[in-house]
Amino acid sequence: MKIIAGNWKMNGTRSDLTKMLCTLSNLDTANRIILCVPYTMLCGGNDVVSIGAQDISCHTHGAFTGEISAQMVAETGAKYTIIGHSECRAYHGDTNSTVRQKATLALANGLIPIICVGETMDEKQAGKTMAVIESGVRESIPSDVNTDIIVAYEPRWAIGAGLTPTPSEIAEAHTLIANTLSDMGLAGTPVLYGASVKGNNAAEIMSIPHVDGVLVGGASLKSDDFIPIITSVK
Ligand code: 13P
Repeated sequence: MKIIAGNWKMNGTRSDLTKMLCTLSNLDTANRIILCVPYTMLCGGNDVVSIGAQDISCHTHGAFTGEISAQMVAETGAKYTIIGHSECRAYHGDTNSTVRQKATLALANGLIPIICVGETMDEKQAGKTMAVIESGVRESIPSDVNTDIIVAYEPRWAIGAGLTPTPSEIAEAHTLIANTLSDMGLAGTPVLYGASVKGNNAAEIMSIPHVDGVLVGGASLKSDDFIPIITSVK
């Protein structure tokens, strides 16, 4: 069983989601399927697909115009939320510290956080990939986690670029994350790989040790692209 999560980013309409949920509901798969959609589309999903948000506020409530709290997401029936996505770190100034606050609020409201970590191209070129990943995991995850969380490794330079790290680079990153989680008392936490996952590379990526699933951007928008990823693994 693998976890196949889609991130629609700022794409799609409610009718697109209705169609996708209907199409995916016919799939015979043991994989866990999650779609992280814009706030206006949040709902309870169906028997085959769970729904997640793409971010939450680091505050519980109050004068934070435009923000959405973990509690608000939870009351839509959504079960997950991405936190610390590369684009939120780049455009909204999320840091490991704010990601940790958001993860705490997600857990307090019964949401499973999908906590993203990964290096930028500058960090990669400076030889800091492993240090950025390890500090991302150690600093973004709350210390008192005693329930399900998911971690996603997203090499930030590869997102939407049609680029992927080599299988050995992915293996090295995921082994580091698994070992770090184990050291934090969180052995067994699923770790997803995300960046330029497509139907033609999904099976190979998910055969790499410590890759428990994928977080898919562009290729999750159309069922013709998403279904081959879901069915590429048992
Ligand atoms: P792409 O699959 O489009 O590279 O996006 C990856 C991503 O950001 C998933 O969260």
